[in-house]
Amino acid sequence: RNCILIGAPVDSGKRRRGCQMGPDAYRTAGLSETLKELGHNIRELGNIQHAPLREASCENEMVYALSETIGWTESLAESAAKACGEGFPIFLGGDHSLSLGSVAGAAAYAASVDRPLFVLWLDAHTDYHTPLTTGSGHLHGTPLGYVTGREGFEAFPPLPAVVPTENVCLLGLRSVDAAESAALQTSEMQAHDMRDIDENGIARPLKAFLDRVENANGLLHVSLDVDFLDPSIAPAVGTTVPGGATYREAHLVMELLHDSERVTSLDLVELNPFLDERGRTANLMVELTASLLGRRVFDRPTRSY
Ligand code: ARG
Ligand code: MN
Ligand code: MN
Ligand code: MN
Repeated sequence: RNCILIGAPVDSGKRRRGCQMGPDAYRTAGLSETLKELGHNIRELGNIQHAPLREASCENEMVYALSETIGWTESLAESAAKACGEGFPIFLGGDHSLSLGSVAGAAAYAASVDRPLFVLWLDAHTDYHTPLTTGSGHLHGTPLGYVTGREGFEAFPPLPAVVPTENVCLLGLRSVDAAESAALQTSEMQAHDMRDIDENGIARPLKAFLDRVENANGLLHVSLDVDFLDPSIAPAVGTTVPGGATYREAHLVMELLHDSERVTSLDLVELNPFLDERGRTANLMVELTASLLGRRVFDRPTRSY
């Protein structure tokens, strides 16, 4: 595949700093080399910047770094729409507010080729707030609110195309705020929390979703938040929540995604290298990306039981 690596050192989505170092951590962990070894073509766009900042305000005074996040949304939506037409964009984050732009751009591209966009959200959190409902004021908690067309984003660039909530699947949930939970009830999103995954396994809900993408001939954007993973294997994130996906569950998800041949764009978000232990989280994120792009732990014999 023609992979396009887009560094997006977004750090405005929450108060704790460090995600700006994410793109360099992925480079240091050898993302580009790893994907080349798998036979992919790699184009590196370096780090992009946010659009020039405009004055912006919001009724909710808690909201943090609004102008900066708007600037990132503008530049990322543009990069994403363009890159989707040229190859397989991988956004090296940066915190999860980068997905306001990457998903909006992917949706614009999908609309331009007249195909539906689906979104797989791998995260401990639903990130379904709006600037009006967020209690923390952290806009990394709002991208799914924005791309599904919730109200409250008037200060942001108008959405080029709305992602219908029925096209969104969330896996790994274990921290959902009351306002998000209430909004979720009236949406069509398929939300799978860790209990669901414990009881049913992670493959079943994912396969059901991938079948829907297939049947609709959809494009699929995957947004991988580091905190989807259990903190014991992925400590480098500011919003760790115990009880996350295991190493094996995470690789299985990536391998099923690879087998589906449906994924058309990817975000790697929330890595905070300042909090990492000798690069292990960055290395794991690179390994997971390799699984998504065709690496196998070993060549499985075909087996029938
Ligand atoms: N729901 C919480 C909030 O709005 C946490 C959001 C965490 N989001 C993330 N992308 N890590 O502040
Ligand atoms: Mn998130
Ligand atoms: Mn999260
Ligand atoms: Mn693997």
